[in-house]
Amino acid sequence: MSNPNVPTPHIQALEGEIAETILLPGDPLRAKYIADNFLEDVKQFNATRNMFGYTGTYKGKRVSVMGTGMGCPSIGIYSHELIHFYGCKNLIRVGTAGALSEKLKVRDMVFAMGACTTSNYVRLFGLPGDYSCIASYELLSKAVEEAKAKGLTYHVGNVLSSDMFYGPAKSVTGGMTWSDMGVLAVEMEAAALYSNAAAAGVNALCIVTISDSVVTGEATTAEERQTTFTNMMEVALSLA
Ligand code: ADE
Repeated sequence: MSNPNVPTPHIQALEGEIAETILLPGDPLRAKYIADNFLEDVKQFNATRNMFGYTGTYKGKRVSVMGTGMGCPSIGIYSHELIHFYGCKNLIRVGTAGALSEKLKVRDMVFAMGACTTSNYVRLFGLPGDYSCIASYELLSKAVEEAKAKGLTYHVGNVLSSDMFYGPAKSVTGGMTWSDMGVLAVEMEAAALYSNAAAAGVNALCIVTISDSVVTGEATTAEERQTTFTNMMEVALSLA
């Protein structure tokens, strides 16, 4: 029987066109880059709002890739539709983050074991306390094994999913800073992805490479961000 929920308001794919495992970069052009450079037998399944999505194969396994846009509301919409209307089971964000600690250098890879947030997104589930947004242990442990096998340098820990890219670098409350609490890096989407996945009982992981440092001001160029994250892509694709 055909699924009456598809196409959705934001994804024009038909039933069965999206794989159970999907990579989710923020930038739709990075989704195209991954499809063009890493996948075989590629078919585009989405162009609504130019949020390009593709399904293909990687080493013979079916996998999809689609942009999410920036911020918790945007990845919240796309991941909800992918999970609830297209049956995605493994959602892997591949993105960039700013280092909050001097221990992290630009281009380092971080597996987000947990995601703190300044966003209201997680509160909107209506829980009676603070929910801990965590990665799927299954995906996280597989990704760590793959990174080890490839001899890559990586960090595993907490990230901050912030609602502000141009936010104040220092604590505005006068209390502890995120880095005081051991949070490694700041990005803008993991908390929404992790909480959506948890609410639906599916797996999610956020992998980021460090594009800039909030501590030292060091940065990579936009062109480098588009093309130089091959290690992260290969780790993420190995989870298919
Ligand atoms: N993504 C990459 N760098 C970031 C930063 N400094 N803040 C929030 N998200 C980011």
